[in-house]
Amino acid sequence: MANTSDNLREAFSGESQASTRYLAFARKAEQEGQSQVAKLFRAASMAETFHARNHLEVMEGIKSTVENLQAAVAGENMEHVKMYPEFIEQANREQKPKAVRTFDYARKVEIMHEGLYKAALDAINGGGKPKQTDYYVCKVCGTTVEGNAPDKCPVCGSNKAQFVKVD
Ligand SMILES: [Fe+2]
Ligand SMILES: [Fe+2]
Repeated sequence: MANTSDNLREAFSGESQASTRYLAFARKAEQEGQSQVAKLFRAASMAETFHARNHLEVMEGIKSTVENLQAAVAGENMEHVKMYPEFIEQANREQKPKAVRTFDYARKVEIMHEGLYKAALDAINGGGKPKQTDYYVCKVCGTTVEGNAPDKCPVCGSNKAQFVKVD
């Protein structure tokens, strides 16, 4: 029988997925002119994020920022070194080009994330602070860059307008 630790992990996973799913549903509702439904999906998505965070807290999955950065580096590294390459190989074997593409977008962007997290970690471990900068994220593929949005996304080729600024 599953214990409470297992249940917390499962609930964290489920709430995280629901949050993302509802945001995607909200986007679709906006496209269909259902702005009230979109708002409802966004509200529930936010609530699910809080549930997920509360579960993660109880699981003791949130540590010091240095430890969190180390965990983030390890997670991103595992994804782009092992998980996505295997998933891409499998999707290629099954001739599922859309799956290949979404896995490949993520694989390439996890490399960027690992680099950005590492740089922040190195700065802190060196006794300083990470450099002050804005980040821009491509809405299509997730490409994450410092400073300014590129004219063309290096991963998916989208134009500058697809980038959102993160303060
Ligand atoms: Fe990532
Ligand atoms: Fe992109």
